[in-house]
Order: sequence, then C-alpha cells, then structure tokens
Amino acid sequence: MKIKPVSLFFLGKGGVGKSTSSALTALAGAQKGVSVLLVSLDPAHNQSDIFETRLSDKPKRINRNLYVSELDLEKWIRKYLRGVEDQVKRSYKYLTAMNLEHYFDVIKYSPGIEEYALLNAYEHILKEHKDKDYIIFDMPPTALTLKFFELPQISLTWLEQLLKLRQEILKKREIITTIKIGKKDFQSDKIITKLDAQISGYEKIKSIFSDPQKTRINLVLNPDKLSLNESLLIVRRLKDSALSVNRLFLNKYNQENSTYIVNSFPETPMLKLPVSEHPLLGLDILSAYLAAKETGIREIV
Ligand SMILES: Nc1ncnc2c1ncn2[C@@H]1O[C@H](COP(=O)(O)OP(=O)(O)OP(=O)(O)O)[C@@H](O)[C@H]1O
Ligand SMILES: [Mg+2]
Repeated sequence: MKIKPVSLFFLGKGGVGKSTSSALTALAGAQKGVSVLLVSLDPAHNQSDIFETRLSDKPKRINRNLYVSELDLEKWIRKYLRGVEDQVKRSYKYLTAMNLEHYFDVIKYSPGIEEYALLNAYEHILKEHKDKDYIIFDMPPTALTLKFFELPQISLTWLEQLLKLRQEILKKREIITTIKIGKKDFQSDKIITKLDAQISGYEKIKSIFSDPQKTRINLVLNPDKLSLNESLLIVRRLKDSALSVNRLFLNKYNQENSTYIVNSFPETPMLKLPVSEHPLLGLDILSAYLAAKETGIREIV
C-alpha cells in the first residue's frame, strides 16, 4: 500500500533556491498526476512571487493537482501562546493572587516559541491533508529549520525527566501520607496522563521524521564554498538527531566548478539544476524549464 502523504522538505542556505526547487518539484508531481500541496513554512514567503498569484495560509488551487499555501507563523505563535496561557491558568486556578499577566509577558519572549509553533503547524497540516500524495515544505532559514527537526528529541528528553520527577513526587506523597498509591492512581494522575500524551505525540513525530517512506529531506545548495559549508553543517546537525539528507539539489549547477561539491557528498543522490536563462517565475516558465532541462526532478515524485 502506498503511504501518503509523503513530506518532502527543502532546506539550505538563504538564497540557494529552496523556494524555486520546491516549486519545480511540486509542479512536476502535479503534472504526473499525483496530488500535491506545497506549503511555504518560511515567514519570508516567496511562493506567491514564484506562482505569480496571491497566496495565504489557506491552500489555493493552482491546477488540477496542485495546491499552494503560505503559513501564517505569527498566527501559530499566538495560538501556541494562548494554549500555554489556558493551561497555566487552569493549573494554577487556586493561585489567583499571583501576578499571572506578568508571567505571560515573559513567556512571549522565551526561546523555543517559534519552533514549537512551527511543529504544531506541521502536525496540523499533515492531519488536514491526508488525501494528498505529497506535501512539499519550503523551509525557513537554517537556524529555525534545524531547531524544528531537533525539537521532538529535545522535548522528549525534558518530558522523560519531568515524568520521573512526578513519579518521585507521588512516591514521596505516598510515604508522607501513608496512603497507598497503587498503579491505578499513578495512571490516573492528571500530570502523568498529560506527560504521557505529550511523550507519545513527540515520539510519533520523531518516527515520521526518521521514516524514509514518510519523510524526505532535500538539501539545496549552490556550487559555492559558503553554501557547501552550511550544507555540511546541516548534514552533521541532522545526523545528531538520527536524521539524514535523502537528496541533494545542486542548483545553479555548471560543470566547470561543481566537482568539489559533487565529491563532498559521495553517498547522497544528487540532482543537478542548471541556471535558467529566464527568471523562474510563473507556471509557463517553470513548466518549460522542467521540460527542457535534464534535472531528474520528474523521477522523484
Ligand atoms: N536554477 C535557477 N536558474 C536561475 N535562477 C534561479 C535558479 N534557482 C533559483 N534562481 C533564482 O535565484 C533567486 C533565489 O532563489 P529562491 O528564492 O528559490 O531561493 P531561496 O533559497 O528560497 O531563498 P530564501 O532563502 O531567500 O528563501 C531567485 O531570484 C530565483 O529566481
Ligand atoms: Mg525561499
């Protein structure tokens, strides 16, 4: 049975051609008759310029098989903060004297908000578009993208520690009150239940990320030293999270000065995208580029 949707991520240094490569891949898939949703997760969106049409966070139909949207990350950040606020207010109802407003002002600036919001958005998109064959993600700058991929494991490490701590608290309470806390009480403890749910949520995302049938990471680079170095860093950091790059898109390829790039990744399949004579904007030019150039893009979707 065919697994769907397959997530195709496009990442790489700023300006290397993530948006262009993801748009070409999305179009190639749609032309072959598979259903594709292309989502820009980069807050500085480019897809509306590439497709020469107004886009929003609601997917817009571009042709029979292709939909494109641009994520409203600010909206997802607000949604995430509201969720945290509700939860804290519910948990600390009895502490009405506490200055909670002050606490929420601080939370807005705490690190990690953007990647949590991004991960929530990603989960939502996967759930909402189970009918699509491919969901193609045009990713934000490297720093945020790496945090996005690292977040499930980081969260799991924290949650597992919190779970241990909670179990110890319950055990101590058992000793102090001499009230026996059986297995059933452990299970019905609200905090443990919540932690368990979060742990299984992050485990699920982690397993999606590391399943090559469900997730493919495409790293875009140019034949230049800076994009090569950033790509090597990306490969290393992903490897630390037990993730690997499935394919390289060597964009703006030319035979003369690409040898050292090709030799730097002996084991990863590489697609070569030559420079287009025309700016790669609009469906007609994107289609003409796909038809004229031997890129191999059509073979991967
Ligand atoms: N193969 C190509 N031939 C010609 N021009 C290209 C090619 N690939 C990309 N470009 C052009 O290079 C510029 C950068 O490409 P693109 O916007 O796709 O990069 P990006 O990685 O998404 O950038 P950002 O990091 O700013 O989001 C654009 O003007 C685009 O039209
Ligand atoms: Mg872009």
